[in-house]
Amino acid sequence: MRCKGSEPATFDLFADDAPQAPRTEQIGPRSFVLRSFALPRVEQLLPALQQVLNQSPFRHMITPGGFTMSAALSSCGRLGWVTDRSGYRYTDTDPQTGQPWPAMPDALMQLAQAAAIEAGFPGFIPDACLINRYVPGAKMSLHQDKNEQRYEWPVVSVSLGIPAMFLFGGDQRTDPCQRVPLFHGDVVVWGGEDRLRYHGIVALKQAEHPLLGEQRINFTFRRAE
Ligand code: SIN
Ligand code: FE2
Repeated sequence: MRCKGSEPATFDLFADDAPQAPRTEQIGPRSFVLRSFALPRVEQLLPALQQVLNQSPFRHMITPGGFTMSAALSSCGRLGWVTDRSGYRYTDTDPQTGQPWPAMPDALMQLAQAAAIEAGFPGFIPDACLINRYVPGAKMSLHQDKNEQRYEWPVVSVSLGIPAMFLFGGDQRTDPCQRVPLFHGDVVVWGGEDRLRYHGIVALKQAEHPLLGEQRINFTFRRAE
């Protein structure tokens, strides 16, 4: 992963004093980390996740270049993001089940909308929620989210489970990256002039979360159409 000029982590990912209180950190002109924003909703989010996975289970997709992604993926909402040998795209059916993607549960929709409002993007109605599951060692290489038809709506990204190091770069792949540790309940929102910034996830360190065990779940909400 190329990311020139990366800063070292500013605090220990596994320290006992990891952030707990809700607060907002600005990481770009229109990009924010909403610390612990999802925490009050976790009790609703986990059953909603389970309901989606019963219909469309996690699976490891293949990149157009032929690599198997280390994060396992599912989706809910009208459209789901997929990758295979023919490319990256959104589909209205789950290629594994042949059925429509599961509807987006209210708890997920409401969280995405509330986080968007908090970050200054009122009116966001996502039609796609990608769900990524990382176990220790899994990562997401630096990329831009650009399979959507328009870029006028933000990306809302929710973290649950074990910590991860989020890389937040610029509009060029070679731009320096901020290293942003993300914890259970944190939400990152980026839009406007920041919408196409490169981002990724460093290979997760071994850890165990009291509710989720040895995994990190990420919900990424977008308006695809
Ligand atoms: C993504 O960019 O698709 C996922 C980011 C994350 O897991 O936080
Ligand atoms: Fe992304």
